[in-house]
Amino acid sequence: MKRVLLLGATGNLGSLMGKALLARGAVLRLLVRPESVAKVPAELAGAEVVTDEAGAFAGVDVVISAVQGGPETIVEAQLRWLRAARAAGVRRFIPSDFSFDFFGLGEGENVNSDWRRAFARAAAQEAGDVEVVHVMNGCFLDHRVLFGFLGAIDLEKREAYLWGDGDQKMEFTTYADTAEFTAEAALDERPLAGRFAVAGESLTFPELVKEVEAGAGVSLTVVRRGSLADLDAAIAKAQAEQPGNMYAWLPMMYWRGMLNGKGALGPVRNGEYPAIRAMGVRAYLAG
Ligand SMILES: NC(=O)c1ccc[n+]([C@@H]2O[C@H](COP(=O)([O-])OP(=O)(O)OC[C@H]3O[C@@H](n4cnc5c(N)ncnc54)[C@H](OP(=O)(O)O)[C@@H]3O)[C@@H](O)[C@H]2O)c1
Repeated sequence: MKRVLLLGATGNLGSLMGKALLARGAVLRLLVRPESVAKVPAELAGAEVVTDEAGAFAGVDVVISAVQGGPETIVEAQLRWLRAARAAGVRRFIPSDFSFDFFGLGEGENVNSDWRRAFARAAAQEAGDVEVVHVMNGCFLDHRVLFGFLGAIDLEKREAYLWGDGDQKMEFTTYADTAEFTAEAALDERPLAGRFAVAGESLTFPELVKEVEAGAGVSLTVVRRGSLADLDAAIAKAQAEQPGNMYAWLPMMYWRGMLNGKGALGPVRNGEYPAIRAMGVRAYLAG
């Protein structure tokens, strides 16, 4: 498990994965769209860069996808790459999941999760001998995901926004730690098929507030928005009013899947990779 083909190396997560793989001695090939070759980070100079899908999968043990996009990318393009991987005798395929546990959510509860489950269902039919590994890391701590996109905590206003009781565990991980664990998952010689859950930290809402306060050295006001049923209603209303504006409702869909516990990861595999000291909320903010 040494020869790796990486898709999405020009993105935030993919570039970190490239670095983590090279650091572990992987023989790395990057499949990059022709117009994006100039975006390949200089620190991935040790990798081979190809732009043509034909032939890109030959001689590869593991394919990792770290792409971002809609169903044409997450379902259609990833299935095309899985078929190419199977035809080339690739042993492992890691799709671009990097999420909470979307298998716990129902259809329509989160569109991004729907596409990832659609890929997983089709992959289960089509993978043949290729092992499909779903890396799950909860919510990203950095790149303004937890402290931005999600609408959970506003550090400038010093407010945290709660729906329901907040008593479910939620997972938080940095991009860099997710990349490190994914590199380990890619190169691991053991069978790994299925969910591969890792996390920087697992916290309930009150625990999250405490860790943020300790790490950022601030005091947060908890704003109670209503019940989880009120959150369902707020999402339905936003979708009805602004169907084309995903920023009006997608963040709430993620926050719902965390607060209601449906996306919780359960046991994580961190302990199997002790060299990775995954960062928690307090250390991330203190840094
Ligand atoms: N758990 C969380 O909290 C969380 C938050 C954010 C993201 N994520 C997930 O993390 C993963 C990576 O996200 P990111 O933030 O690193 O994304 P990003 O920085 O936007 O990078 C996206 C990458 O995908 C490539 N790409 C997009 N469509 C493609 C296609 N059709 N064919 C080939 N390449 C394509 C882009 O290539 P070009 O340079 O050619 O455009 C780029 O390299 C995604 O699965 C995303 O859903 C998770």
